[in-house]
Amino acid sequence: MSEEQLTISEIYAKGKENLEKSGVSLTFPPDSNIGASSKENRKYLDSLFFEPKFFDPVEADTSLSLFGRRLRTPAFCSALSMLPFMPENCLVDIARGIGNAGSLMMLGIGGSGELQNAIDTGTPIVKIVKPYRKTELIYEKVRDAESRGCVAVGMDIDHSLGRLRGDRVDGTEIRGPQRSDELKQLISQTKLPFIIKGVLSISDAQKAVEIGASVIVVSNHAANSLLFGLPSMIALPRIADSVGKKLTVLVDSGFKTGNDVFKALAFGAAAVGFGWSMVLAFAADGSSGVELLVNQITAELCRTMTAVGCPNLSTIKRSSVIQVPPMKGERSF
Ligand SMILES: Cc1cc2nc3c(=O)[nH]c(=O)nc-3n(C[C@H](O)[C@H](O)[C@H](O)COP(=O)(O)O)c2cc1C
Repeated sequence: MSEEQLTISEIYAKGKENLEKSGVSLTFPPDSNIGASSKENRKYLDSLFFEPKFFDPVEADTSLSLFGRRLRTPAFCSALSMLPFMPENCLVDIARGIGNAGSLMMLGIGGSGELQNAIDTGTPIVKIVKPYRKTELIYEKVRDAESRGCVAVGMDIDHSLGRLRGDRVDGTEIRGPQRSDELKQLISQTKLPFIIKGVLSISDAQKAVEIGASVIVVSNHAANSLLFGLPSMIALPRIADSVGKKLTVLVDSGFKTGNDVFKALAFGAAAVGFGWSMVLAFAADGSSGVELLVNQITAELCRTMTAVGCPNLSTIKRSSVIQVPPMKGERSF
């Protein structure tokens, strides 16, 4: 009998277990406000339900076009960069797993060698450049991404006031505030689609349109940019309503499953990014773990689309999910 494949939750559990064995714990400290955005995002996602129609199902198609590439799934790998505990070449191996699953990967901080190796796997790669104080460095990184064959380039604007490590802010000596007129100039000088990552307000989303960005990522950087920054699922529908016809809206921060992807698509996202989940999947089983995770997320998405009567991604609408308010008082059975 062939061994059964790990499910999504089993992949996460195995990744966590393997990391813990090597002394790495990824849980937020309890009883603090540090994980508040993530917790609220989870609660909101879990309050959304589906109304299945099981008669005469039509198997759904989860494919889409993004940055001129045909992808098998709207679940992509959000911008990743190396953390001290991650093994050498880990991001290139993640890129390989992502490509095998028919998806796309974004890379954050990192050098040209790593970027080239990731591109050489054949996986579509996006470079997200930091909001550096030094404008020349931003231009250098954007040109590098362009010349090496990235499918798009962008900036995580939400780290312009530094990054959070727990509740400590650091990195402000190299990252700095960005002016929209300067970014407009930058965007006008690249042929690649430009992404603004870290949008949580309608105002920033509209500015992204004005400066010529073609994509935004609604994101709170996995609760790593601003304590109590809006949970992505709360910010997403209003931003999608405001600018969704003018540019492509992606989302990340706190999404874990294929059903989460469905819900984000229902709220106006074209595709959904996964960050820590990919790190866990890699810790579970390297490139194959990443490939399996994306395949399992996509399989769950496909099954739910089929059950709900959405034959393709563009038919997923806000009305495809139903919010069930939390029960008040004691449950009685
Ligand atoms: C190990 C790691 C490194 C990251 N590095 C970057 C980066 O360099 N640039 C960036 O824009 N986002 C970076 N992020 C944030 C992700 O792109 C993404 O916004 C976030 O992880 C999504 O939330 P999730 O982890 O809950 O899926 C990183 C995330 C992780 C887990």
